[in-house]
Amino acid sequence: MKRLYFDNSATSHPKPVEVAAAVHDYFDRVHASAGRGAYREAVESRAILDAARDAVHRLFNCAPHDHVIFTFNGTDSLNLAIRGLVRPGDHVVTTVLDHNSVLRPLAALAAQHGVRWTPVPVDPRTTLLDPGAVAAALEPGTRLVAVNHASNVTGVLQPLADVAAICRARGVRLLVDAAQSAGHLPIDFANLGADLLACPGHKGLLGPLGTGVLLIRGGVEDELRTVREGGTGSWSEEPRQPAALPDRFEAGSHNAPGLAGLRAGVEWLLKHGLPAIRARELALCERLAARLDAIPGLTWYGPRAVRQRVAVFSVRLEGYEPGELAALLESRYGILTRSGLHCAPLAHRAIGTLDLGGTTRLSAGPFTAADDVDAVAAALAELARAARPDIAELRSAV
Ligand code: ALA
Repeated sequence: MKRLYFDNSATSHPKPVEVAAAVHDYFDRVHASAGRGAYREAVESRAILDAARDAVHRLFNCAPHDHVIFTFNGTDSLNLAIRGLVRPGDHVVTTVLDHNSVLRPLAALAAQHGVRWTPVPVDPRTTLLDPGAVAAALEPGTRLVAVNHASNVTGVLQPLADVAAICRARGVRLLVDAAQSAGHLPIDFANLGADLLACPGHKGLLGPLGTGVLLIRGGVEDELRTVREGGTGSWSEEPRQPAALPDRFEAGSHNAPGLAGLRAGVEWLLKHGLPAIRARELALCERLAARLDAIPGLTWYGPRAVRQRVAVFSVRLEGYEPGELAALLESRYGILTRSGLHCAPLAHRAIGTLDLGGTTRLSAGPFTAADDVDAVAAALAELARAARPDIAELRSAV
């Protein structure tokens, strides 16, 4: 049976063919640690990193280049941003849609250093954030606002520009978690008004697992402490971590094969253009939303207006537990989804699914076809029919 991948929110698949080719090329031709030697292969490895940094810089319009920091995933980027910026006793504002990669570092800082944090509620129907609620949650001791750009549960896109204006006016740093938006729609970091933007390299940026990015607005690095120190291949006589970027925040050997792949993924996005990628994703959202609306007993969450969302659809189908639905979609139709709480418990509480085992999530990527959307909708429609008591015998066949 053909496997139909609908879990791009976890990691994108498939990747452009250029990504695997770049990783193979690294192993065939380069196989050396970046910036750690003067021989040809090490220099080439360093050049791969520089090219990857340049590609990320062009994608997000962020300057200067050395303020693009490579990490190992989105969680790593968020930990650097949060632990690097927040001081003992500080107050932090988040939203209830934030992922455990934001909530758990804050819980640890709360336990270890008396940090307090306020998760701002969202509209229970659309899950949109009211920027005024962010403003109302700010306190004199608020150092940081962390906002999830696109929810990994409801797909909602938040009004970042309005939140950024509030943070600027109040002198509070803004961290954007772009795990589900980077690579899906244009993001102009230089003009966004945010101080930090964190994202994985292996989701919308189409790189391999084990890659991540943190963008730092010029000057903000002076407030950001290191959370990992070690070898950088530079200023090795100094006992302390070098001040120069990106070395200050990139201790240890880089994931050079992963970054070779990330460069290829980002170049693919640049070649196709994010406006076109976004337009295609919006069409898929329209199609999926219309088909899901036609299925009796199916509930889906987040905004109905597709312009307010990315292609992440959490569903519940009457008569099925989320895990059971995911298992049936795989075993009977070869459709791969993710069920449960998606590491975002407060988001599920916000939409009323925390105590119901969460949802079954469908998430599309740039290689998802309209036919794939039709196939998943047809599978859900068949399962909906099978759940009806009058035709319950069908269910055992399913
Ligand atoms: N946060 C990723 C997801 O939502 C892993 O699946």
